[in-house]
Amino acid sequence: MSAKTFLLQNSETGDQIELDVRSGTVGPDVLDIRSLNASTGTFTYDSGFAATASCESKITYIDGGKGLLMYRGYPVEQLAEKSSFIEVCYLLLHGELPSTDELAKFDQTVRTHTMLNETMLRLFDGFHHDAHPMAMVAGVVGSMSAFYHDTTDIYDPRHRDIFAHRILAKMPTIAAAAYKHTVSQPFAYPRNDLSYAKNLLHMFFGVPTEEYEVDKVAAEALDLLFILHADHEQNCSTSTVRMAGSSGANPYSAIAAGIAALWGPAHGGANEAVLNMLEQIGSVDQIDKFVDKAKDKNDPFRLMGFGHRVYKNHDPRATIIRGACHKVLKQLGRTDSPLFELALRLEEIALKDDYFIEKKLYPNVDFYSGIIYRALGIPTSMFTVMFAIARTVGWVSHWREMIVDPDGRISRPRQLYTGPVARDYVGIDKR
Ligand code: SDX
Repeated sequence: MSAKTFLLQNSETGDQIELDVRSGTVGPDVLDIRSLNASTGTFTYDSGFAATASCESKITYIDGGKGLLMYRGYPVEQLAEKSSFIEVCYLLLHGELPSTDELAKFDQTVRTHTMLNETMLRLFDGFHHDAHPMAMVAGVVGSMSAFYHDTTDIYDPRHRDIFAHRILAKMPTIAAAAYKHTVSQPFAYPRNDLSYAKNLLHMFFGVPTEEYEVDKVAAEALDLLFILHADHEQNCSTSTVRMAGSSGANPYSAIAAGIAALWGPAHGGANEAVLNMLEQIGSVDQIDKFVDKAKDKNDPFRLMGFGHRVYKNHDPRATIIRGACHKVLKQLGRTDSPLFELALRLEEIALKDDYFIEKKLYPNVDFYSGIIYRALGIPTSMFTVMFAIARTVGWVSHWREMIVDPDGRISRPRQLYTGPVARDYVGIDKR
């Protein structure tokens, strides 16, 4: 069967060009436009890359119409129910679920690389006590190439593995150091006997004056949230990591770029914005007022935690997290959570509103996650840091895929220029 192609015709000149169509294992075909400019002298235009495939990937697939998400072919619902975050990390990085021995070895490697270079810890003293934790985490991760320059040869597979283990292992420690700095408490060193989520809770809430007993329910809830936030195709921050890495920049700087992109309220910063919004709404009787504000084109207010570039159906992660909210709040003995009740009513009202129905705006991953973080005692300013900890494995997996991509080259988009045409300089005395 001949390869599928699209025929493009210039309506003015009648010139035609044939573009190859490439098919994936699942999902929409893509039009290979790499020959377009050479053949026609034109570029394509796609602000925000809503209809542009920036790469070929085997890591994660989303069907936005059906509300499906799968990591390396495994539906996220099954991984959420049956797997663990450390196992999902192995899956995303290596493409297959690990054997018992492979998982044990990977888990042990991560557990034994959680400490930071001791002088890195001094960086936190340079931040003001009220520095936003995301600013601290982005800054310290960006500094890591200064401490770990012995493994930044991006073309050495061994260096790429060491980088992956290091950054995965150290993100919770960096996050915990940032948190402790904001509460002016002493930093709690990681413990190798604790699992990923338990270690994080220990570093967040442990104090030198007494033994800290990690709550099993809290650790399980955190592990679930980490699984659900681990990866999500070519989202804004992952594309940023790929773009930064495509210049050959050291991988720590590429991850720091991803952290910076994630911080935006339109992206990972939305989980913090959702809690602030719920507190701003305050009570159920105020919901209609804020839903009207969200619908008002002249009002910049948006319903944070609603809408998605890809999902035009329920975000499966939001559905799972909403269910987990009920379970976790009950297990933690929180008979009532006004913010959760408010969130449930807000979703119910919004999803009956024509504006949200027509624009296919559903709750996304950020809408309910903060309810659980809050229940675990994690402050709102740390919510996006929690997202960054989980998404680090996705960023690293995509960075590794990009580095070895035979089609890979430096990312350098073009533009539609509408600025002034060439003109001569005018001396200041003549302006
Ligand atoms: C994440 O890409 C990913 O995969 C991201 C992520 C991941 O795991 O990496 O899933 C994580 O970032 C989730 C999204 C978190 N952001 C928010 O919750 C912020 C609120 N949402 C919006 O800002 C918005 O929905 C985006 C940014 C998520 C999506 O923006 P798009 O795809 O550019 O859509 P759009 O802004 O063009 O909106 C389409 C229409 C617009 O109205 P019209 O111009 O067509 O009249 O829907 C409206 C928007 O005004 N709209 C909203 C809305 N979101 C979109 N109106 C009110 N409230 C909202 N939340």
